Amino acid sequence: MEEAKTVSRYELGMIGLGVMGRNLLLNMADHRFPVAGYDRDPAKVEAFLKEGANHDVSGSSELPAFIALLKKPRAVMMLVPAGSAVDSVINELLPLMDPGDLIIDAGNSDYKDTDIREKALYAKGIWFMGMGVSGGEKGARYGPSIMPGGRPEAYERVRSILEASSAKVNGEPCVTHVGPGSAGHFVKMVHNGIEYALMQLISESYDLMKRGLGLGNRELERVYKDWNGKELSGYLMEITGDIFGRKDPETKKDLIDEIKGAAAQKGTGMWTSESAMELSVPTPTIDVAVAMRNLSVLGDERATASLNFPRPVSVYKGDSDEFVKKLKSAMYGSMLLIYSQGISLLSVASSHHGYGLDLEAIARIWRGGCIIRAAILEDIRTVYRRSPSLPNLLLDPVFSKIVFEHQENVRWVATESIKIGIPVSAFLSTLSYFDAYRSEWLPSNLIQAQRDFFGSHTYERTDRKGVFHTDWDES
Ligand code: 6PG
Repeated sequence: MEEAKTVSRYELGMIGLGVMGRNLLLNMADHRFPVAGYDRDPAKVEAFLKEGANHDVSGSSELPAFIALLKKPRAVMMLVPAGSAVDSVINELLPLMDPGDLIIDAGNSDYKDTDIREKALYAKGIWFMGMGVSGGEKGARYGPSIMPGGRPEAYERVRSILEASSAKVNGEPCVTHVGPGSAGHFVKMVHNGIEYALMQLISESYDLMKRGLGLGNRELERVYKDWNGKELSGYLMEITGDIFGRKDPETKKDLIDEIKGAAAQKGTGMWTSESAMELSVPTPTIDVAVAMRNLSVLGDERATASLNFPRPVSVYKGDSDEFVKKLKSAMYGSMLLIYSQGISLLSVASSHHGYGLDLEAIARIWRGGCIIRAAILEDIRTVYRRSPSLPNLLLDPVFSKIVFEHQENVRWVATESIKIGIPVSAFLSTLSYFDAYRSEWLPSNLIQAQRDFFGSHTYERTDRKGVFHTDWDES
């Protein structure tokens, strides 16, 4: 084990040298920041030091020795699994830290935990930041999108290192101080909720083209690569094209066909839906994306049910090229509606939690590095530059016009999918969201009447102000 080269001079220390932690630290080292790593597994420290051999790096598998490497006041970042591991690390760190030191949790922590930790640590004189990092392993290594929250003074201490190591779009770093307290983790959570919905939508387009049109993997690869070149372009579209081109080295078959249709999850999508429900913000496509992952893992039940309901998926009888063209437009319209839902949640959370989010800045830092990066975010950024406090993108005249141009195709794709029997809950929920949001009248008057009927819950009237109750049993 290499020992400390020089003590107390490393600008940032990383706890947890798994792939994400190691890559993010190497990225910082690439930008000429002296950094140190800690992992209780000496092999991981060794691997980090080897990979960073040409840089100014150090490390240790002993926590006190690692802490001794760091410049004061210290900045310690951790990339460990969310939950109790974060508290364990904090508890181990505390006796070794001095007032004014900074701890940054760069994992996908629940924002509610972040608020508790930030307050508790601040009372002890320790700064704490909850920071979202997106972009997977490659992003961490070569430029992620970074969503730091917490006290602005704490951010200023690590600003230069974060700006240098973040992704850049047209020279602008994909990092900004998003807000106080748990704002960083909240924004990252919503990023992931949008990610869930987009992935569900893309998987439904795959199903429609595979089972509905009978397209093979080469054709699917071509379609997604074509879509990625235009207004639909984005990271998820790009990797989808690549996935259909990949062979399994063992079987030499297309790898996609060897992968079980059971989607796992670590919870951020569900947290987004939970938060949306708590704040009364409708995010139906995110909700349904979580539900469909839950349904996907019921493999045995689905196998039995498939025998009980033998209605085969029918192949679409019309023109396939026309279908793909309309599907592309429906994808675009639905993607706009998914971003609208996620960002409307940010808008409400911003005032509810006192985050003071700058939605234009969030769209800006999501344009590069992160999983949901897409051309659309440039347009979204323009909307929020024009109207910073817009509650929903669908209220912007320019954005609305684009959605309106594509909504007929969302409707068409939804209708055809229902006829051939392919489940498209993401398309359906975006369409219903759109149709409900754009409707001045909704049938909720009946729900109010029912509530008042069975529970005297009262109702409001359209013709006068006040709260009313009817004795519904009276004839
Ligand atoms: C990112 C990803 C990252 C992680 C997801 C996966 O932004 O880099 O979102 O955070 O890959 O959390 O989440 P699930 O395991 O829940 O799909």
